[in-house]
Amino acid sequence: MTDTAFDVSIIGAGPGGYVAAIRAAQLGFKTACVDARKTLGGTCLNVGCIPSKALLQSSHLFEEAGNDIAAHGVNVGTPKLDLSTMLGRKDAIVGDLTKGIDFLFKKNKVTRFVGLAKITAPGQVQVGNDTYTAKHIIIATGSEPAPLGGVEVDEKQIVTSTGALNLSKVPKSMVVIGGGVIGLELGSVWRRLGAEVSVIEFLPAILPGMDADVVKQATRTFKKQGLKFKLGTKVTGAKVAKGGVTLSLEPAAGGDVETIKADVVLVAIGRRPFTDHLGLKNVGVDVDKRGFVVTDGHYKTNVSGIYAIGDVVGGAMLAHKAEEEGIACIERLAGQAGHVNYGAIPGVVYTHPEIAALGKTEEQLKADGVDYNVGKFPFMANARAKAVGSTEGFVKILADAKTDKVLGAHIIGPGAGELIQEVVLAMEFGGSSEDIARTSHAHPGTAEAVKEAAMAVLGRAVHM
Ligand code: FAD
Ligand code: NAI
Repeated sequence: MTDTAFDVSIIGAGPGGYVAAIRAAQLGFKTACVDARKTLGGTCLNVGCIPSKALLQSSHLFEEAGNDIAAHGVNVGTPKLDLSTMLGRKDAIVGDLTKGIDFLFKKNKVTRFVGLAKITAPGQVQVGNDTYTAKHIIIATGSEPAPLGGVEVDEKQIVTSTGALNLSKVPKSMVVIGGGVIGLELGSVWRRLGAEVSVIEFLPAILPGMDADVVKQATRTFKKQGLKFKLGTKVTGAKVAKGGVTLSLEPAAGGDVETIKADVVLVAIGRRPFTDHLGLKNVGVDVDKRGFVVTDGHYKTNVSGIYAIGDVVGGAMLAHKAEEEGIACIERLAGQAGHVNYGAIPGVVYTHPEIAALGKTEEQLKADGVDYNVGKFPFMANARAKAVGSTEGFVKILADAKTDKVLGAHIIGPGAGELIQEVVLAMEFGGSSEDIARTSHAHPGTAEAVKEAAMAVLGRAVHM
């Protein structure tokens, strides 16, 4: 070990930790960042956001080539899958991006340690046999897949998202436990590549917490694509044999047991905070009942000099939320006014079509007794969506009935993940639906559907 005394030490080099490290170095802190993984980028870059999006893109092209492209007068015959090239492409993208963070660490003079870190005392971090000091320690150790009792993961036949990113052949059948974001994204990947995919969801609907209109449309669309759903159903056990996995199921409320068999089972029932090995008990850092590190709203734990950000503190388990918290935490350490607007963090499901959510859902506004207006515009009436051949879905904007301030936006449709961003900006600036409606949008563009939905809030959409 060369250096042993730092201003800031960050444990975990995921989107929260690595971004915090770079920002700390930019602000003149002598900074260390340690991660147990050999490659930087945490869950998101190594086994999360990036490899999943690479496979979503490749599998989408495979499906398009086999189906939709013929309608354009482009006949390519029956496409052949080369899975190892597809997986290799994904790994190469991950490799490039994780090396990119190495480069950024060097450029910003962040000292990097590889190994499991333990906080041995406030201001003291141990990695292997070495110990170094830091005035401020930031816990950014992220999350791990939540286990399901009776369904033991072997990452071959019963896999988490990590195993599902690396299956060596396309299973004939796959059962996904959990109709959330991972289940729908990775379920879609393997369905597009030829697997028969069934999704088992405990609740009465998929994508809990999303706007009900969007959930209705998404369910319809995914069913049409071939995903099968068993809603309101719980898995009570799994038997693994050479020929596949047999799951026992029963209605969520209890009732008759049935079985379902699949070559591969993906367990995707949520993620839980990861704090093993940190020694939090020894140093007295509080965690809540579910294991999340407790912070005071300024990323401070109850122990002076120890902070926490990202998935490990709870809230939306999203890479950009972790990044924002990393930056805000460091800027506060530097005496600046770092802040995160938790009311305007978008969430995107990268299926086809994409689904994007922002701010309040209509159900939340009703429950809160807020007087609101709704503007909705279908992609079917959008010229660009027609030209592209992706007309399913709509844009929905919710605005305060008195002030017209935008309170939420929900999009299912082509490029929803990019389209939501202008509404995020509008919300960040305290904008109204009229602000969006009066903003010039290039024609023809799918973003015009956002403008029209904003116009529809006050009942004056033109193309509907
Ligand atoms: P993490 O990224 O989990 O990083 C924590 C790091 O800490 C890890 O590298 C770990 O090795 C390290 N660590 C833990 N304990 C120690 C220790 N004691 N010592 C040293 N190192 C330690 N989010 C999105 O916003 N968009 C997406 O498209 C998206 N897709 C996803 C797809 C999948 C399949 C999964 C699983 C997640 C996805 N997420 C996505 C969620 C996203 O990955 C997380 O929200 C994000 O990675 C959280 O960042 P973090 O920095 O808090 O923690
Ligand atoms: P999730 O919380 O999105 O979905 C889990 C689903 O499993 C829920 O619908 C839940 O009701 C269901 N469930 C829970 N217990 C169950 C049981 N016993 N049987 C059947 N169903 C059960 O969690 P998921 O999909 O595992 O993803 C974890 C996190 O990773 C998400 O919270 C998300 O923030 C993040 N992520 C984000 C992505 C993105 O932004 N595009 C992509 C993938 C993951």
